[in-house]
Amino acid sequence: VGAEIGDNAHFLIKEINEQPRTIARALSGRIDERFSTAHLGGLNMTVREAREIKRVTILGCGTACYAGELGAQLIEDLARVPATAEPASEFRYRNPVVDPNTLYVAVSQSGETIDTLAAVQELQRKGGRVIGIVNVVGSTIARQVDGGIYLHAGPEMSVAATKSFTSTVTAFALLALHLGRIRDLAPEQGRRIIAGLQMLPEQVTEILAQSDAIADIAKEIAQSNSVMFVGRRRGWPVAREGAQKLKEVSYVHAEAYPSAELKHGPLALISPEMPTVAVVPDDDLLDKNTSTLSEIKARKGPVVAMAHRELSTDIADRTLVVPRNEPELDPILMSIPLQLLAYHAAVVLGRDVDKPRNLAKSVTVE
Ligand code: G6P
Repeated sequence: VGAEIGDNAHFLIKEINEQPRTIARALSGRIDERFSTAHLGGLNMTVREAREIKRVTILGCGTACYAGELGAQLIEDLARVPATAEPASEFRYRNPVVDPNTLYVAVSQSGETIDTLAAVQELQRKGGRVIGIVNVVGSTIARQVDGGIYLHAGPEMSVAATKSFTSTVTAFALLALHLGRIRDLAPEQGRRIIAGLQMLPEQVTEILAQSDAIADIAKEIAQSNSVMFVGRRRGWPVAREGAQKLKEVSYVHAEAYPSAELKHGPLALISPEMPTVAVVPDDDLLDKNTSTLSEIKARKGPVVAMAHRELSTDIADRTLVVPRNEPELDPILMSIPLQLLAYHAAVVLGRDVDKPRNLAKSVTVE
């Protein structure tokens, strides 16, 4: 997980392929099997302080914010604390009410993003407690916060964030487990999540082995002017991040919508010329998700689905079968084919994969 490109064509594919190891590194030394919890030594928070948290507000920019949206759902699901994520750039300009019983979490791969740093400083000025989920050790945000979790994902060289996204969501799963186990979460639920986390590296390897099949789909996607991404609940941040990846590295326009919102406007865009990429886990919302896909197919929109089993061709032209984990952790796995889709589309179109036009790895000036 170093900064050398080796025999890889691009840093982006190198970093996508590193994810079995980077996820394992995010977990390393942090799982406590005996008490079915996570140890997060860097949090600097007593059990009593953790129990007093009434709300969690997560701040970040770009991909870090989408990872935060999944983090918020993990914290609500496992720790039963209300949690939301918001772009740091919006938060800092809206004179937010800073609450002493809210835990603020700043997410940043680089630890240098100006809007995230400014949000942290504003929070601290008003007495807020802020922890960081950061990759770069000793970075400005890492030094500024009151404690946190390092990703240990190694240098991320490609402008488009990939391994830092999956490591951030993994770190949030650990934080949610930790908070859950000192609040409401039963030991067997803790064990279930730990077993799921431990399965991730191997399952990521299985997904990476489908790269060629994904490259085939990417050839078709690359010919489109615009692509719709849909998902619901945990699939919604995955869809947002998938659309972002495609836009930033291939320059193909994409937009993401929560599946059920499609009928409130964007369904008007669906046609044989606009493919949809759908996140369709085999969970309690499967029927709802497949009915959205039927609506798309009725308008002759091509559909590519990320699912846990092959879907019927009436609702999805192509299915990418992703291994099943615990429902809370499935989004980590579902995001990986979307990274590969964006990568292969960018390659087909001959884009500057690691350094897309107009973008910077970290935005340190406004
Ligand atoms: C830039 C990068 C994105 C990244 C965002 C936040 O816009 O191009 O890939 O998600 O900054 O960066 P951070 O280092 O704070 O996670």
